[in-house]
Amino acid sequence: MHSFEELLSKFNAFFEQERLKGEPLSLYQPANYILDLGGKRIRPVLCLLGNELFGEIHPDAYKIAAAIEIFHNFTLVHDDIMDRAELRRGKPTVHKKFGASTAILAGDVMLIAAYQQLSCIQPALLPVILEEFNRTSREICEGQQLDMDYEKVDVLDMQAYIRMITLKTSVLLASALKMGAITGGAGKGNQDHIYEFGKNLGIAFQIQDDYLDTFGDPAKTGKKQGGDILENKKTFLLVKAMEILQGEALENLRQAMGMEGEEKIPVVTGLYKKAGVDVWAEKLKAEYMDKALHHLDEIAVLSKRKEPLKKLAAYLLNRDY
Ligand code: IPE
Ligand code: IPE
Ligand code: MG
Ligand code: MG
Ligand code: MG
Repeated sequence: MHSFEELLSKFNAFFEQERLKGEPLSLYQPANYILDLGGKRIRPVLCLLGNELFGEIHPDAYKIAAAIEIFHNFTLVHDDIMDRAELRRGKPTVHKKFGASTAILAGDVMLIAAYQQLSCIQPALLPVILEEFNRTSREICEGQQLDMDYEKVDVLDMQAYIRMITLKTSVLLASALKMGAITGGAGKGNQDHIYEFGKNLGIAFQIQDDYLDTFGDPAKTGKKQGGDILENKKTFLLVKAMEILQGEALENLRQAMGMEGEEKIPVVTGLYKKAGVDVWAEKLKAEYMDKALHHLDEIAVLSKRKEPLKKLAAYLLNRDY
């Protein structure tokens, strides 16, 4: 059994050799630029942890983990175009640095590279892993489209918000764990529980992501503070503030959402504070964390083996980047 940190360094050692090679450099350099910026690498480590919960790590788990991380980085490149984001991991986004057309194509080539990684796993596992990966990939596209569609609506209920973030974010965490569990030889029941653990953890993870976008320290998050407010994103903060604020405060929030430009950010942030959204964020994260831990409990392996996952879950919810 290994800790998160140990698996992270094992994965990084493997992943360093998996940079995209080819010409023209004008295509491959932007792809490697985002990969070299690193990030937390949660998803590949979740895949390895999912495997190790059930048995010794199979070499295929590294390939699947690499495919997931390349895929995740591809979604970030395209997400930053869609969100008009200028900063990622403390550096200019790919489209800012290399132009939108190159960013689109660099994303495409990364998606293909992810599938090339997958195609190298043992034939016996390939169909089931591919089915899992494909379903998850399509769900992420669906969630990303909803995220953009919702920029244009005035209010969104909590249920629709949860559905959107489940698709755009949490299914990849869930699937990373499940694919790892499959390589580790988990049975169907355990696969379902680890997926549900990851799904609920992923929801709490995106709630924290939304929170950090407005209230995080940009020196740590590496993103522009208030980017979601500028883009009219229906984040947890907005959904909840619309629910809580009444009368004049609600009217102020509605008007503020119609503002253009940077001045919008402090006005909306102030109204979020007034609504006490931080308390609600803690409540909601705890609720989904409980659901997640319930499914972890249900997994039929010795509870000692679950410790690294429990530790990781706790860290993810209170992270500051
Ligand atoms: C960012 O994911 C995109 C979301 C789904 C919220 P991470 O916060 O895992 O980003 P990196 O990979 O660590 O930079
Ligand atoms: C991103 O959600 C989800 C995917 C990339 C699929 P966000 O748009 O909130 O992620 P960040 O905040 O830019 O990392
Ligand atoms: Mg974004
Ligand atoms: Mg987005
Ligand atoms: Mg975000």
